[in-house]
Amino acid sequence: MTTVLTGIKPTGTPHIGNYLGAIKPALALAEAHDARYFIADYHALTTVRDAATLRDLSYQVAATWLACGLDPERVIFYRQSDVPETFELTWVLSCFAGKGWLNRAHAYKAAVDANVAAGMDPDDGVTMGLFNYPVLMAADILLFDTDRVPVGRDQQQHLEITRDIAAAFNHVYGDVLRLPEAVIPEGEATITGLDGRKMSKSYDNTINIFAPPKQLRKQVMRIVTDSRTPDDPKDPDACNIYAIYRYFAEPDALASVREAYLNGGLAYGAMKQTLFETLDAAFAPARERYNALMADTDRLDAILMDGAARARTIAAEVLGRVRSAVGTAFTHPVERTS
Ligand code: TRP
Repeated sequence: MTTVLTGIKPTGTPHIGNYLGAIKPALALAEAHDARYFIADYHALTTVRDAATLRDLSYQVAATWLACGLDPERVIFYRQSDVPETFELTWVLSCFAGKGWLNRAHAYKAAVDANVAAGMDPDDGVTMGLFNYPVLMAADILLFDTDRVPVGRDQQQHLEITRDIAAAFNHVYGDVLRLPEAVIPEGEATITGLDGRKMSKSYDNTINIFAPPKQLRKQVMRIVTDSRTPDDPKDPDACNIYAIYRYFAEPDALASVREAYLNGGLAYGAMKQTLFETLDAAFAPARERYNALMADTDRLDAILMDGAARARTIAAEVLGRVRSAVGTAFTHPVERTS
């Protein structure tokens, strides 16, 4: 069976761009494959420097995926920090990762370029965590004999580095590590935010999936529109409200709204109210599950710990292969208990 794996970095409250671009497609993929999905909390440590915030964001991400339908019996769902094998493999892989490859990794390179442009020391404020980020990600992936990795286009380079590292290792030791492939959604990967730019926490233009209705309404009301009057005909494909509505509307409703845009007679205010009601109805049942999970973090911990125990069974086996290949202490694979 093909294995799929992806990591979710807990750096912000999940929004509908995350839902449409990552959560929904990954849950569909999990239906047909052996899936391992995890919270990349140690990746977030490169930017989140407050314990309470990191803990809370990790719970938010876990509760969001579960509330949206992730079945933790089927999918191995865990926190990266609960799988210590990851960090041992990170070291081993770092011994096969060309420094030049990491010099060219986009996040590090962008930080250096910004420093140079500002006339500062190239490595000002750059940590080894930022530099090694792609190696930790390679360890996440290679530790589980992963075949496919669903990620956004911005992660493609990291997948290439992962393959390069695995190939460099295999070149020395034979066929030990499985080479993964990125699965990148075509076309519609970017969801429009409130201001018409890509929906992103860094632009403060998001609609949070599980905002309470009042806050959800407030976010929807902030959507930027042009100044056409209700009577003016409008282009639905140039409208930020429609850009979000089309993902959630029933086909019939969408068709009649489209007509109203084109023919005139549609007020943006009323359209925002329609979008609010549609989103509110779409997410109400999941929001209830989300709130229940967030109110019971012991249960979240129990689910994630169970996932970690299953993950570690696989991890121990792969790491055993690696140790045996390189000639360090060989650990026997832990027997599968379930
Ligand atoms: N770097 C990814 C991101 O920022 C998160 C991530 C960490 C990841 N480890 C991974 C994704 C392993 C896929 C596989 O989105």
